[in-house]
Amino acid sequence: MAELKGLMRTHNCGELREDQVGQTVTLCGWVNKYRDLGALHFIDVRDKYGLTQLGFEQFKGDLSVLKDCALESVIKATGKVAMRPSDAQNKKMDTGLVEVQVESLEVLSRNDIDNIPFLPYGQVEATEDLRLKYRYLELRTKKLQDILALRSKTTNTVRRILQEEKFIEVETPILYKSTPEGARDYVVPSRVHPGKVYALPQSPQTLKQLLMIGSTDKYFQICRCFRDEDLRADRQPEFTQIDMEISFATPEYIKNIVEKILGELFELEDGFTLPMMSYDEALARYGSDKPDLRFGLEHRIVTDIFKDSDFSVFSSVAKANGLIKAIFVPAAMGAFSRKDTDALTDVVKPHGGKGVAFFKVAGEERSAGISKFITDEIYQSLCAFEENAGDGTWLFCADTDLDAAHACADALRRYLGKKLEIIEEGYKFLWVYDFPLLEWNPDGKRYIARHHPFTMIKPDQKATFIGADPKDSESLKDMPAQAYDVVCNGYELGGGSIRIHEQDIQKKMFEVLGMEEEEIQSQFGFFVEALNYGVPPHGGLAFGLDRIVMLLAKTDSIRDVIAFPKTTSASDLMSKAPSAPAEAQLKELHFNWTK
Ligand code: AMO
Repeated sequence: MAELKGLMRTHNCGELREDQVGQTVTLCGWVNKYRDLGALHFIDVRDKYGLTQLGFEQFKGDLSVLKDCALESVIKATGKVAMRPSDAQNKKMDTGLVEVQVESLEVLSRNDIDNIPFLPYGQVEATEDLRLKYRYLELRTKKLQDILALRSKTTNTVRRILQEEKFIEVETPILYKSTPEGARDYVVPSRVHPGKVYALPQSPQTLKQLLMIGSTDKYFQICRCFRDEDLRADRQPEFTQIDMEISFATPEYIKNIVEKILGELFELEDGFTLPMMSYDEALARYGSDKPDLRFGLEHRIVTDIFKDSDFSVFSSVAKANGLIKAIFVPAAMGAFSRKDTDALTDVVKPHGGKGVAFFKVAGEERSAGISKFITDEIYQSLCAFEENAGDGTWLFCADTDLDAAHACADALRRYLGKKLEIIEEGYKFLWVYDFPLLEWNPDGKRYIARHHPFTMIKPDQKATFIGADPKDSESLKDMPAQAYDVVCNGYELGGGSIRIHEQDIQKKMFEVLGMEEEEIQSQFGFFVEALNYGVPPHGGLAFGLDRIVMLLAKTDSIRDVIAFPKTTSASDLMSKAPSAPAEAQLKELHFNWTK
């Protein structure tokens, strides 16, 4: 579709073809390349749509203007579209059969070529810090422009689907009260309320539930969330959710809407349904609630096999009700040198592991590592767990702490997937359900919510829950919640739950989380009260938009899909935020800081 009139250009730089030969056109863009061949001069002019070659044989003005056309200067060129001579045609370039014979040229903005920190072509050769400091230059790369366009297309598609399904988009406040999602809050002081702060929402959780109480029925919002937490390649302090909430919903409806969205965004086959796995099964088979299913190497739980073993490290773990997990790598998938097996210690160390035990099998022979402890009986028992057993390497993670054993075996599996280059192309989705409701925090001697405090228990668990002792680390340890995550390629793409809509359960939940009545009232009194006045059962889910776009764009850093991202220490290198407030600001905000 042609652009509306009123732009300085007639066409963009990726648009001209043979059809336009003979037309007079005006192009605007950045000088991408300048060639001075003595008698002939050429400029490649670039905008986000592409590149076009400009020739100057028909130029009516003074060619000295080209001196001001340093790379990355912004120019406006008017001239006739002409076929290039056949030996000068470039079939790799969309506009490569034609050029514009420039008749007039205007330099709209000169680039300071001596000081520009880097040129944004091809592989940008600059450190990430420098690229973030001059993000607007990096944004000129095709890679980032394509990602911005992909992100915009993604949100458009999501909006269309949700509107078709009768969702309405509602904005919720940014200046609000704490909404616990397991991270710390960013707080905002207020000039008119000395000593008080707003909290930026970690998500619009309570607000979307209040919208349901307000009869909104199906809500969505593409919203910003703020969390002060440790950052990683897939986490930013402010990020975007596709947030949804639905009245009278069952987990089935939520799964259906998730499938519809993912099906369109990832162009999956018609009628795509998410494979499902319970949290317990995911943990047992992969040591993770977000397993990457693009490769095998499943965990085998082999604890019992080693109860009476002479290998005291394993037998003591087994006797202490710990966990021993094995991964079998068939010889055809890869062999391990001494150096390779030594390196595995570093893989598990960050997760509390001390090392990875192993032995090798070749024909009838078992060798290396802990092979001298692997009796025929133990080996036969191991093989019973592994249909591919045969030549290869058995690797083990063992710990008295179950979480540590799972985490080490998960890290080991992911490492092996990469190292052995067995990760398939494409997307492997999973719906993980029946997450635990709570986790016991031994330091604080109290429970913490696994998802958030608004997550509903299973329908038949009310009496147990209401009667439970919040100080007893065993009473609620294994209680499942009506909570689910959607996972892809080892990333948690989204999470949600059915919510508590009964006041007594909600109050008990706050109590289980160690909150006193007074604290419940001051933090959530308004919310608990709302549960008095007719509440539709409801549930929802939020996708991490940045992670979806990251997967669609096939990049592994969330920073690539955010126009102006922050570093892992939550700083903006371009504007230098956060920065020290002015004295006057502090005074106005009633702050008494010593800098
Ligand atoms: P949750 O905390 O699981 O749920 O967040 C939902 C999704 O948001 C993404 N996400 C992040 N993305 C980038 N950077 C971060 N720091 C970050 N934190 C989370 C993840 C995650 O799956 N209110 C609930 C949702 C609900 O119950 O409906 C919530 O926020 O992809």
